[in-house]
Order: sequence, then structure tokens, then C-alpha cells
Amino acid sequence: MNIRFDIITEYIPFFLKGTLLTLGLTLAGTLIGLILGLMIGLGKMANSAVVRFPFVWYINFFRGTPFLVQIFLIHFGVVPLFMTPANPIVSAIIALSLNSSAYIAEIFRAGIQSIDKGQMEAARSLGMSHNQAMKLVILPQAIKRMIPPLGNEFIVLLKETSLAAIIAAPELMYWGRAAQGAHMTVWEPYITVAIIYLILTLSLTQLMNYIERRMRTE
Ligand code: ARG
Repeated sequence: MNIRFDIITEYIPFFLKGTLLTLGLTLAGTLIGLILGLMIGLGKMANSAVVRFPFVWYINFFRGTPFLVQIFLIHFGVVPLFMTPANPIVSAIIALSLNSSAYIAEIFRAGIQSIDKGQMEAARSLGMSHNQAMKLVILPQAIKRMIPPLGNEFIVLLKETSLAAIIAAPELMYWGRAAQGAHMTVWEPYITVAIIYLILTLSLTQLMNYIERRMRTE
């Protein structure tokens, strides 16, 4: 097999530009997803079944339908309602945020509910209010347990940004497809793109390991 390195060097600037957008999409999706996910997770823990209902179905929808379908619905259906023409980067950020918020909501809920209820009872019996007990006793323990699944979610989200190529958001995968189309070749663009994704996900894994180690107390 003859590898055409000239194709790779020709596209390096585009791959780098695409990588920046990939990172931007991941960061935006993660941050907005965290905020939304926290609220949705709290909503799903409400005492009243009526209050829980919309949150439960939000999570069901975003976890139970393919992300590609969600991107299409958002890019061709929702975003055009308030923006013409729809900007694919805006659509991608909305889709990534909404999708990851559903997963993050469950990570929050699982983290909080994994703390033995004796912890809350003990804190209350020491005279703490429910909110104090939550803030001082439950959440510090729960957050530690949320770190590994949250790290996992960020890595998944980074890879999911590649689906934004389908709506022409010029991220990394988009430029891989562009190079494939221009040179009618598969190996050079996609091996390069795969290596860049691998570097990104491995760096993120390292970062998450570091945070996990820093937060370990016992
Ligand atoms: N690609 C899968 C899908 O289409 C997985 C999406 C996972 N998303 C996440 N934020 N964990 O549904």
C-alpha cells in the first residue's frame, strides 16, 4: 500500500482547525450539559410523580433515540424556527448539550442516591437541616462517586461530536470526509483523524485520572 503523505500534510491545517472546533463543541456540550443535567436530575428526584413526569420523559427521549436522529430534528426542525439559515455549530451545541444532559442527570441522581441513607439520618440527628446535611455530608461524598462516570460521559461526548459532520459543522470528522472526497482516498484522512481523536480521548482520560486521584481522601 502506498501512503500519500502529501494528502495528510495538505490537510493538516484543516484537521487542526477541525480539532479546535471538536474541542469547542465538547466543552460547550459538557458545560451546558452539566448545568441542564443537574437541574433535570434534581427534577427527577422530586417527591411528586407529576413533577417527575416531564423529567423522566426528557431522559427517556434523549437516551432512547439515536443521537443522529436528534441532531437532524434539532438542525432541520428546531433551530430553523429561530435562525435562518440554521447554523450547524449552533445546532450541534444544542444537540450535544441536550443529549448529554440526559445522561448527566442520571449520573447525578445515581451519585446522590448511592449514599447510604444513614448518612442523612445521622446528619439530621446532629441537628443539621436537610439542606445543610445535603451540602456538608451527602454532596461531598456523592461528587466523588460521580467523577468516573462523568469522565466517561465527556469522552463519549467528544467522540459524538463527530456526528456533527453530517450537518456540515466543520469539525475534525468533517475535514476527514472532505479530504476523502477531494482525493478519493480513505486511509490517509481517516487514519489521521482517528489518531487525533485518540490523542484527545487519551489526554482526557489522563486528566480524569488525575482529578480522581486528587479527590481521593481515604
Ligand atoms: N451514539 C449513541 C447514540 O446515537 C450514543 C449517544 C451517547 N451519548 C452520550 N452523551 N452518552 O445514541
